Amino acid sequence: MNDLYYGDYIQLDTILNSQRPRSFARMEDGNDEMLFIIIHQAYELWFKQILFELDLVRNIFIQDRINENTPDMSNVVHKLKRIVKILELLNQQVSVLETMTALDFLEFRNHLLPASGFQSKQFRLIEAKLGLKMEHRHRAEYYKHTRRGGLSESDLKEIEEAEGESTLKELIVKWLERMPYFDEKYWVDYKSSSDANADKFWSDYRSVYLGGLSEMERGRLAEFDAVFFEKGRGDLSSKAMRAALFITLYRDLPIFQLPFELLNTLSEIDELLSNWRYRHFSMVRRMIGIRAGTGGTSGAGYLEGTLSQHYIFREITELATFLIERSKLPELPGMLKEKVSFNV
Ligand code: HEM
Repeated sequence: MNDLYYGDYIQLDTILNSQRPRSFARMEDGNDEMLFIIIHQAYELWFKQILFELDLVRNIFIQDRINENTPDMSNVVHKLKRIVKILELLNQQVSVLETMTALDFLEFRNHLLPASGFQSKQFRLIEAKLGLKMEHRHRAEYYKHTRRGGLSESDLKEIEEAEGESTLKELIVKWLERMPYFDEKYWVDYKSSSDANADKFWSDYRSVYLGGLSEMERGRLAEFDAVFFEKGRGDLSSKAMRAALFITLYRDLPIFQLPFELLNTLSEIDELLSNWRYRHFSMVRRMIGIRAGTGGTSGAGYLEGTLSQHYIFREITELATFLIERSKLPELPGMLKEKVSFNV
């Protein structure tokens, strides 16, 4: 019989024969090292799928132009939402490993020295391809070495190559900067409530924003000007920040629905990655207390630091700082409304 067989199709023998515990040879002497290995392997398989989806998304964004009205955009959102679902699963998986106690872990911990999840090439590739730069990392000196507990030469090379490619974040910034909605031709019939000449929309918006700030928060206005008109924020230029805010504000307009979902999904990815960092950090505290990690970092202390410092899409998530109430949104001009409806 030459029919394709299930086990051959998914290479089951290879997968099921890839668990080699180092602390026991016979099943009868077994301990939780088997669980420890299987959990890590399951993670790495899902990391592989995340990287696969991420590369597809980056390839779409690498094009010079993405029409908001084409399958490209819905494909991007669809793939990123799949990544969100995988990350949800990866968060839940921590509980399975937490059925192992600290004493159970000690039975085999010394057998895996100096290996550590810190050496997970795929995890670093996910971070790098999303847009986390090595130099922005917490305790950057821990990375990029090939000493004991560090990365292998070939893994390090691959990560450095990925860092040199366009990251998803850079591509999103370029896409935001390309948004054509502020071309003057769409704004000729805009009815401004102020008498400012240039950028009437934004000066109207700015006054409504100021009106909504409490006494204590007045200082935010200077920040608003810096973020949207002077230097931008983090990796996003002021032009990109303006486009992201505009999409967020007018997300009910047909053409902005997918772009809004895209921005929202990026924040969700950041939040889920950060949830994972937190769950992993808490588990590590329970397993090894405040001992140093097998990978040579300070352990839980290092992991706690990554929590607040390794957000990738912070600028997008924190756009909420600059929103105004929906009922106070300036009415868009007819020409622009026509452009952003699907009848163009
Ligand atoms: C008993 C369970 C675990 C313990 C005690 C543990 C411990 C640690 C420690 C101490 C670090 C910091 C680096 C070091 O010095 O070693 C680390 C990093 C890491 N671990 Fe775990 N870990 C556990 C399970 C897992 C699992 C199941 C995964 C899934 C892939 C994982 C993935 C990672 C990753 C990706 C890093 C790097 C994090 C970063 O640099 O932001 N770990 N782990």
